[in-house]
This record gives sequence, structure tokens and C-alpha cells, in this order.
Amino acid sequence: MKPTTDLQKPVIKTELPGPKGREIIAADAKYVTPSYPRPDYKLVAEKGYGVWVEDVDGNIFLDCNAGVAVCSTGHCHPEIVEAITRQTQNLIHMCGTDFYYRHMPDLAQKLDEIVPIEGATKTHFANSGAEAVETALKVAMHHTKRQKFISFFSSFHGRTLGALSLTSSKAAQRRGFMRQALDVIHVPYPNKFRHFANNQPTDEETITRDCLAWIEERIFKTTTPPDEVAAIIIEAVQGEGGYVPAPKGFLQGIRRICDEHGIVMIVDEVQSGMGRTGKMFAIEHSGVKPDVMCLAKGIGSGLPIGICIAKDSIMNWGKGAHASTFGGNPVCIASALKTIELLENGLVENSREVGAYLEAGLNKLKDKYDVIGDVRGFGLMLGVEFVTDKNTLAPAPELRDKIEYACYERGLIILGCGANSIRWSPPLILSKENVDVALEIFEEAIKVSI
Ligand SMILES: Cc1ncc(COP(=O)(O)O)c(C=O)c1O
Repeated sequence: MKPTTDLQKPVIKTELPGPKGREIIAADAKYVTPSYPRPDYKLVAEKGYGVWVEDVDGNIFLDCNAGVAVCSTGHCHPEIVEAITRQTQNLIHMCGTDFYYRHMPDLAQKLDEIVPIEGATKTHFANSGAEAVETALKVAMHHTKRQKFISFFSSFHGRTLGALSLTSSKAAQRRGFMRQALDVIHVPYPNKFRHFANNQPTDEETITRDCLAWIEERIFKTTTPPDEVAAIIIEAVQGEGGYVPAPKGFLQGIRRICDEHGIVMIVDEVQSGMGRTGKMFAIEHSGVKPDVMCLAKGIGSGLPIGICIAKDSIMNWGKGAHASTFGGNPVCIASALKTIELLENGLVENSREVGAYLEAGLNKLKDKYDVIGDVRGFGLMLGVEFVTDKNTLAPAPELRDKIEYACYERGLIILGCGANSIRWSPPLILSKENVDVALEIFEEAIKVSI
């Protein structure tokens, strides 16, 4: 699979959004829920091909967001389209909760081969990231017969009530929903650019030590005895929270704590998985082997699929304990199997190589502009944190929003994450030529916004 290089630059030919786009936005405002957390800019998509998205008015954008890290193989990859089309001609739905078809064991076996979970696994199929997380929570409760969970500040695990109890990246996600549905305690995430005590940079050893101590010395000895904890759930790279990778030593520390206390280690790879970080799974950068993993987004190349995969000694619940009508739909699985094939045949490698190229370019911008405080991540999962200046490192959320908007006006789709960061989560087919174009626009957007 070769990266796409045909169309070199975005083409913006109308005001943004254009007249057709404005009509759709007006209809959306009238009929669609206002709860979606859309950014300031308004993109009304009509077509997608490779790394390009065309809006309803014929403007063409370079997409460095991939529908929020979903279109891992690019928009409408011909082999994905072919696999889906072929499947729709044979079997669209059968309900794997009550009947059998080959797709479920095919994908489960493939996942068993590639996930970094020690020993034999079992897979449960659902339709979204949140449902994959719900499954992980239920399986951990069922297995341990415990009820408490540990999650991290700034984490995002979804918006269903169980997953929402874990999620803590923005108050708007929680406001109005009263008490947590589950007994979850939140602890600081090891963000070495912003130590939880003073919001200032520190080193990996310090943040690792302090965050582990928070769990072992503080909450285990006060509110949350470890023998009552069913699971610790962590993103190896925090996604919505700002594209922040956890240090290797911290993830190893969590593994140790889980082993010492019979706690299930759940790694949520919904955003960081499927090649995005230059390895198939972000947790592989640490060498840590989790007990349970959650996958969604990039595994389906745009089709809805949510996966919870666990050690088979953990996912050993009985008939009727958990199921989903649409989960593991044959069309979605056909897309997932083809996605994994494309990832294994070059796209994970491309993510690593082009990601390193993009990271080098972003670091050059960081050296040049006082407002870039941090560039971080792996592969094509890179975060850029905006600050008022490099002395105070005060967060600059408004500047971030301005830059995001200025990129859109110039034909580059990127999206914010955290309070003041921008995430780069392009399709994994991105080429170095695409990166050059994207960085030129990004720099121009910074210049006009500061
Ligand atoms: C790490 C992580 N977990 C879970 C979810 C929830 O996924 P979904 O929106 O498919 O329910 C997301 C979504 O952004 C995510 O980034």
C-alpha cells in the first residue's frame, strides 16, 4: 500500500462554510441534538478519498484528523470498500448473540494473535468505544466480584453512564448527570509536561513516582482498599485529554500494583490502537501486558465496531452475562479484517516513519514559536500544546482555538484535545509530501493567530 500523493494541496474556492454547507448547518441546528461538542469551525463533508475530504460546496481539505482517529486506512480505501461491498452481497446481519457465522471467530482469532495480552484470549463484540469499555468494566466486576474502579483525571472512556463514571476530561461531559453510576476514584495521570502539584514540567521518574505514590500511599490507605478494586483502567496515551503518553515506568508500575492486589489491568486503546502510534498498540511501547483491552475507532476504518478482548481466564462468564444485537456485525468485521491486513502490510510502518517526520517538523516549529510549549506522542498520534509563552507556560486555550480555525480556513482539518492542545491523528496513509503541505498551513495559521 503506497501513501497517497496525487492531490497536493487543499482547494478552497468558496467562503467557509459555503452556501450549501450553511443550509445543512441550519437544518442540523433545527433537528439534531445540540449536545455534540463540535469545534468553532463548521465542516460539512460530502466525500472523502484517501487523506482528502471534499465539502458540499466543492472545497477540498487535507484531513489530519481522520474523523477523530477512525479512518485509519484513509477515506474510502478501495480495498475496504471492496471488502464491505462483497460482504453486503452475502450477509449483512444475523445476530451473533443467537446464531453463528465465521466472521466472529475469524476476527477474534486474528486479535488473539496480535494483542499483547499474555496467553489465550476471548473477545466480546459491540458497536462503539463506550460499549467496549462497558464490557471491560462488567467483565472485571464479574471476575473479581469487586465494585470499585480506578481511573485517571483527564481520561476519556465514553459517555454511556458506566463509561462516563470513568471519564474526566471536561466538566461539560458530567454536568447534569448527577452522581457517578459506578464507584470510581480518579487519580492524577502521569503528564510530565504538567505535574499535578504545580502544573509545571518535570521528568518521567518524578511524575511516575508521584502518581504511583498517590495510588499506593494515599488512596489505598484511605478511601479505596486495594482488595476492593476490580480494575484500573488507563489510556497508554491519553487521547481527548491532550495526547499525553504515560511513561513506560508508570505503566509497568500499574502492572505491578494490579499483580500485587489481584486487580484487573484494563488498557483503553480505542483512540491509540490499530497502528496509530507506530506500533499496532500503544501499550507495546512499554512492554506491559494488560489483562483486558478495549478497541474501537480505527479498527473498522469507519464502520462501527467496539471490541473488548480479555484473558480467557477473565472473560469466563456464563451464558447471558453480556451480549449485543449488532455487535460483531459481519460487514463491520469484514472491514476490520481488511483494516488489520492493510495495517500489517505497511500502514503501521508508515505511521512510524511519517509520524517521525511530522514530529521533527512540529519540533522545528516549537523551537521557532514561543507559543508552542510541548510536542509529544508516538507515530501519527501527536499532540501540540499551546501556551502564552515559554517562561510561564500558561495554557493558551483561546490561541489554540484560533489556530484550529485558521487551519480550517486554509484547508487543513485538525482538532483540539485537552484544554489547549491540538491533536494530529491523520489517516495512516499520510505521506511526507502531505506532511510538508500540512506543516506549511499549520505554521501560517500560527503566524496569523499570535
Ligand atoms: C480512549 C477512548 N475510549 C473510549 C472512547 C469512546 O468511544 P465512542 O465515542 O466510540 O463511544 C473514546 C472516544 O473518543 C476514546 O478516545
